[in-house]
Amino acid sequence: MERHRSRHDHARLLLLLFFLLLAAAGPSPAAASALSGRVQWDGVVVTQADYQALRAVKHELVDSLGVLRSWNDSGYGACSGGWAGIKCVKGQVIALQLPWKGLGGRVSEKIGQLRALRKLSLHDNLLAGAVPYSLGFLPDLRGVYLFNNRLAGTIPPSLGNCPLLQALDLSNNLLSGTIPPSLANSTKLLRLNLSFNTISGPIPSVVSRSPSIAILALDHNNISGPIPASVSKLGTLQILSLSHNQIGGTIPSDIGELSQLEELDLSFNAISGSLPSSLFNVSSLSVLDLEGNRLDGEIPESLGAMRNLSELNLKNNRLKGPIPSSIGNISGIDRLDLSENNFTGELPASLANLPKLTSFNVSYNNLSGAVPTDLSRRFNSSSFVGNLQLCGFSSSTPCPTISPPPQAPPSPSPEQSNRHRGRHLSTKDIVLIAAGILLAILLILCLVLLCCLIRKRAASKKKNGKPEKAAGGGGISEKATASRDVEAGDIGGKLVHFDGPFVFTADDLLCATAEIMGKSAYGTAYKASLEDGNQVAVKRLREKMTKGQKEFEAEAGVLGRIRHPNLLALRAYYLGPKGEKLLVFDYMSMGSLASFLHARGPETTVDWPTRMSIAIGVSRGLHHLHAQENIVHGNLTSTNILLDDRTVPHIADFGLSRLMTSSASTTVVATAGAIGYAAPELAKTKKPTPKTDVYSLGVVFLELLTGKSPSEGPNGEDLPQWVASIVKEEWTNEVFDLELMRETPTIGDELLNTLKLALHCVDPSPAARPDVEQVLRQLEEIKPEVAAGAKDDEGKAESPDE
Ligand SMILES: *[C@@H]1O[C@H](CO)[C@@H](O)[C@H](O)[C@H]1NC(C)=O
Ligand SMILES: *[C@@H]1O[C@H](CO)[C@@H](O)[C@H](O)[C@H]1NC(C)=O
Ligand SMILES: *[C@@H]1O[C@H](CO)[C@@H](O)[C@H](O)[C@H]1NC(C)=O
Ligand SMILES: *[C@@H]1O[C@H](CO)[C@@H](O)[C@H](O)[C@H]1NC(C)=O
Ligand SMILES: *[C@@H]1O[C@H](CO)[C@@H](O)[C@H](O)[C@H]1NC(C)=O
Ligand SMILES: *[C@@H]1O[C@H](CO)[C@@H](O)[C@H](O)[C@H]1NC(C)=O
Ligand SMILES: *[C@@H]1O[C@H](CO)[C@@H](O)[C@H](O)[C@H]1NC(C)=O
Ligand SMILES: *[C@@H]1O[C@H](CO)[C@@H](O)[C@H](O)[C@H]1NC(C)=O
Ligand SMILES: *[C@@H]1O[C@H](CO)[C@@H](O)[C@H](O)[C@H]1NC(C)=O
Ligand SMILES: *[C@@H]1O[C@H](CO)[C@@H](O)[C@H](O)[C@H]1NC(C)=O
Ligand SMILES: *[C@@H]1O[C@H](CO)[C@@H](O)[C@H](O)[C@H]1NC(C)=O
Repeated sequence: MERHRSRHDHARLLLLLFFLLLAAAGPSPAAASALSGRVQWDGVVVTQADYQALRAVKHELVDSLGVLRSWNDSGYGACSGGWAGIKCVKGQVIALQLPWKGLGGRVSEKIGQLRALRKLSLHDNLLAGAVPYSLGFLPDLRGVYLFNNRLAGTIPPSLGNCPLLQALDLSNNLLSGTIPPSLANSTKLLRLNLSFNTISGPIPSVVSRSPSIAILALDHNNISGPIPASVSKLGTLQILSLSHNQIGGTIPSDIGELSQLEELDLSFNAISGSLPSSLFNVSSLSVLDLEGNRLDGEIPESLGAMRNLSELNLKNNRLKGPIPSSIGNISGIDRLDLSENNFTGELPASLANLPKLTSFNVSYNNLSGAVPTDLSRRFNSSSFVGNLQLCGFSSSTPCPTISPPPQAPPSPSPEQSNRHRGRHLSTKDIVLIAAGILLAILLILCLVLLCCLIRKRAASKKKNGKPEKAAGGGGISEKATASRDVEAGDIGGKLVHFDGPFVFTADDLLCATAEIMGKSAYGTAYKASLEDGNQVAVKRLREKMTKGQKEFEAEAGVLGRIRHPNLLALRAYYLGPKGEKLLVFDYMSMGSLASFLHARGPETTVDWPTRMSIAIGVSRGLHHLHAQENIVHGNLTSTNILLDDRTVPHIADFGLSRLMTSSASTTVVATAGAIGYAAPELAKTKKPTPKTDVYSLGVVFLELLTGKSPSEGPNGEDLPQWVASIVKEEWTNEVFDLELMRETPTIGDELLNTLKLALHCVDPSPAARPDVEQVLRQLEEIKPEVAAGAKDDEGKAESPDE
């Protein structure tokens, strides 16, 4: 039927042409009207060749929306707007534009017969097949817009024959093969977009022969090889986008010659070498994205010359050295990402001068020092994490200060005082530290002198035949079972012994060689080696913070009687003549749980049963404190859970707040809050409860499960938040310590159940948290054999008198 109608129309068309020719032939009255008719018809009737071509084009398209219904066989209206998407001049089709028309099928090679075609726009359709080779025969072709289709095959090299081609956009298709070098012959090219295809091979060096090109987008392909140095010759280039390819080599050193460049995107390639300093001379540049390459070296100090820059992304390279302070000259910058490099030094204060900055990231570098307050106010810790020595960007990363800054001196301007605060404090720090060191040296000297004096005296007493007082020998261990032994030493101090395996005198203690193990809110802990070779842990309490002697002794007496295999036993205390107070504990050879978990070598693993028995032991210790002693720990952390040589955990630092003045223990609660173990309600109530202890216990469980310390949530969250967010996204297995995942798969349930329990413990609502007894019961259900084993231990150790 189609063919029938076509023949019929064909006949009419011929008749019309015959008329027109007749009219042109001679001046007759009849011809006059025919002549005016011809003028009227000119540009309406499509040429025979174009008519045939359009019919062929229609034939190969799949027109499911009926857009081409108007391309019916008359041909009369084809050029006067009757045929959809056609424009003509003098009966010749110059434009074929049918974007967003749901057209399928393919673009016929017959399109090459539209000899006057200037513009072909079929983007955003469903076209498959190849880009017609015959487009290359069209001498007037200026624009080819075939993007967002399903075209496959290669880019026809013939396109290079179109001398007037200005725009070629074949982006987002399925094109493969290489970029034909012949494109360089299209010397009028302004815009070339081949992005989002699977084009491979190198960028042909002849691209440099397109003297007027402004936009070159080859991103999201499989292009390899280096950026040809000749790219720098494209003096009119405004946008160069080569991201997401396999491009290697270096950035051409004379890239700075692209004086009109506004956007340079080389992200996600394999480009190495350093940043050419000429790049930072391109003052027109507005976007510079080099993320995800292998660039090394430093950022040139001339950085601030890029006045128009609004986005700078150097993320995930190997750049090092300082962040130049001239960055503060880029006043219009909006996005700045320097994360995942090796930048060192401090964040320049000039960063605070950037008012338009809305996105900022320097995480995972090697930066140090204090974050300018303006930045820490505007951006959360996810912009700063992963810099071990960077501080002051969140409440959990306070910069070290020894005492609160004194009242601010009258300052000329707030800005200036801000800038000076960092240096001001650090000089003060230095003075204080120096004073501290001096004091310590003096103290040691005094002790040594004192010690020698005592020795001499003791020796002289012995010579005098007087019996030595209360110290040493078997006598004291007999007395020790009677719970207390008081020795008033010659030096005027007082040593009070509770039961314990070791025997020592005040002299022994004071003359022991000591090394600092750590400092806490309560004071400094030493490892003291007694002369008999035994070791004890000595905690020297901060003097200003402790209660008066009488109260202190009463409280210490209570603490000294607490005995549990998972609680660090207080064996003695010493009151010095000048008010110094020492507490003596068992020495735990394996150190803290924190260092056991987080500071071990890569080859040391901690297996699941060990972690589980630690979890159970800690819970037992805490349960004893809550249930038997009616003591809230208030500061349970992995640093004050200590491990003996069999990795049995002993909770330390419990009840110490009783020895302190109430203001001092409030301070301790406040500092404890900063390190990630404090229950959220503590921020308001400031009063530790059994439920805040359970929260801290839950954080310790999470540490055991994830192998992460509570301050190292990947995005700056605390550990409970991090774990909860991942569990919510059903990525549960991601949270566990990798080394646990390598263990037998059968522990999966135990891990999951322990994780559930831990998350229950860190519930933001105190009422929702279990109490320690419930925690303990659940743990023992999760891992009955470890629980039983630990009980045996408990039985053994529980017996008094060892
Ligand atoms: C061709 O299409 C036009 C526009 O849709 C319509 O007006 C005309 O009648 C059609 N002619 C024939 C012969 O179908
Ligand atoms: C190139 O084409 C892609 C896909 O059509 C588009 O997203 C991108 O904006 C274009 N690039 C340029 C520089 O015009
Ligand atoms: C460019 O055109 C010239 C002739 O105009 C031709 O000799 C040459 O081979 C063409 N170059 C390419 C790469 O096709
Ligand atoms: C990309 O190119 C490499 C060779 O350069 C080839 O091995 C790889 O298969 C290509 N990938 C795709 C998706 O075409
Ligand atoms: C950068 O520009 C300055 C002056 O505008 C010029 O002296 C210097 O040579 C340029 N540097 C590079 C590496 O192109
Ligand atoms: C900076 O950008 C503005 C507006 O985008 C433009 O008018 C100006 O020419 C640019 N400056 C340079 C040096 O390119
Ligand atoms: C940073 O430097 C260290 C030591 O020089 C090196 O081991 C590490 O791989 C570097 N990191 C990056 C991301 O380049
Ligand atoms: C650019 O920054 C540097 C260092 O911050 C400063 O010395 C220089 O004066 C600034 N240049 C301009 C033009 O503001
Ligand atoms: C961080 O910088 C310090 C010196 O500032 C250096 O000793 C250390 O190796 C660096 N760490 C990394 C991972 O590059
Ligand atoms: C930090 O800020 C980023 C963006 O500004 C946001 O996506 C993210 O959720 C924030 N993270 C936290 C922990 O607030
Ligand atoms: C900063 O970069 C890190 C590392 O890529 C990323 O985890 C974090 O989400 C980023 N933060 C922001 C605010 O963009």
